[in-house]
Amino acid sequence: MRTQVAIIGAGPAGLLLSHLLHLEGIQSVVLESRSYEYCTTRIRAGLMEQNTVDLLNEVGLADNLNRFGLPHDGVQFTFDGACHRIDMQELIGRRVTIYAQQLIVKDMADVRRRDGGTILFEAEATAISGLDDRPVVTFTHEGELKTLECDFLAGCDGFHGISRPAMPEAVRRDYDRVYPFGWLGLLIAAVPPSEELVYSHSDSGFALFSMRSEELTRAYLQVRPDDHLDNWPAERIWSELRGRLGDHEGLKLNEGEILQQAITPMRSWVSEPMQYGKLFLAGDSAHIVPPTGAKGMNLAMADICALSRALLDHYKNNRSGYLESYTKTCLDRVWRAEHFSWWMTTMLHPPYDANPFDLKRQIAELRTVFGSDAGCRLVAENYAGLPVVPWRP
Ligand code: APR
Ligand code: PHB
Repeated sequence: MRTQVAIIGAGPAGLLLSHLLHLEGIQSVVLESRSYEYCTTRIRAGLMEQNTVDLLNEVGLADNLNRFGLPHDGVQFTFDGACHRIDMQELIGRRVTIYAQQLIVKDMADVRRRDGGTILFEAEATAISGLDDRPVVTFTHEGELKTLECDFLAGCDGFHGISRPAMPEAVRRDYDRVYPFGWLGLLIAAVPPSEELVYSHSDSGFALFSMRSEELTRAYLQVRPDDHLDNWPAERIWSELRGRLGDHEGLKLNEGEILQQAITPMRSWVSEPMQYGKLFLAGDSAHIVPPTGAKGMNLAMADICALSRALLDHYKNNRSGYLESYTKTCLDRVWRAEHFSWWMTTMLHPPYDANPFDLKRQIAELRTVFGSDAGCRLVAENYAGLPVVPWRP
């Protein structure tokens, strides 16, 4: 097989790239190791920045997002017995939208199929060669070993993919921070405590109250990084959710069946550079953020805008400047999102070894930020999303 751009991974990054290239007449093939079923149902992130929503509208991917997404003008933070609301709409004229990652993955995969795009599910890339000149990807599909030749290779295969390790060790550098806690994620059949997201700091740990619909709560509890679900019987979950949310007017914890639960570790990680020869990394294959800032899916799509612009400028205008500066364009934004995600994480999670001074200091930081217009605006600007480059040259 041969194509112009080979894309490994049918997550938000890979599928968006395939669609944007198609809009401008550039061919691609997407290789995805998992099944369509798995990719379009696994529970992942759920918050879209304004930029992400605007982009998906501009490129014809937002029909379901506009019907079923939940737009939020504000976001709430509880700490020290009080609830603070950041009105993003009033402060900066922007908002965020709740729409589950697996749904936008399904929407994009379905649009690519409708448009005759090639996405091979259950096709695992096993080897990469020729990165300096003519890349070739070896993959298994329908029980056979096959090869895909291409002009460019987009490594959109997440943290555990094979693209990044295909770069020579000597050119790469990793920047890493593992946090001393994880998140217990819960999907609950109950009306969420508020129409908006609530981030709660408390002495016994952080909790986040999000949603997937008006009747479906998505909640997260800070837990120890090596914790097990066995340690979290339902009564403990409810008691911690209730205690960490606290008593606030207008916020009500509604109980319901716990439909799904899982513990995930938290880390910040960046691999530089994001390109080597004809290989370009995007999304989780190049960087991970802790979920507190809700940046993972948005960063993946922002990388793709830069990559699509660079590839289109090459094919349409025979120019290579955007390809050459791809890493710098992405990393300028990535590092700011890394900082914001780290900041929200460290500000909102009391460490398990915190002494009384640490807790008082943390409350003081929260009061400094949320008690000031400038602080609220800073949070709003970063939360609703920093500017993204245009996806076309
Ligand atoms: N061959 C083919 N596909 C692969 C391979 C491989 N060797 N390795 C990984 N993949 C696929 C995975 O199965 C997955 O579907 O690559 C895809 C990568 O998708 P994501 O992990 O969703 O990564 P990305 O598109 O960068 O989106 C980032 O995902 O983890 C969340 O919080 C993160 O929201 C962020 C988003
Ligand atoms: C989610 O709804 O899954 C979600 C929302 C905001 C976050 C993290 C996760 O910061």
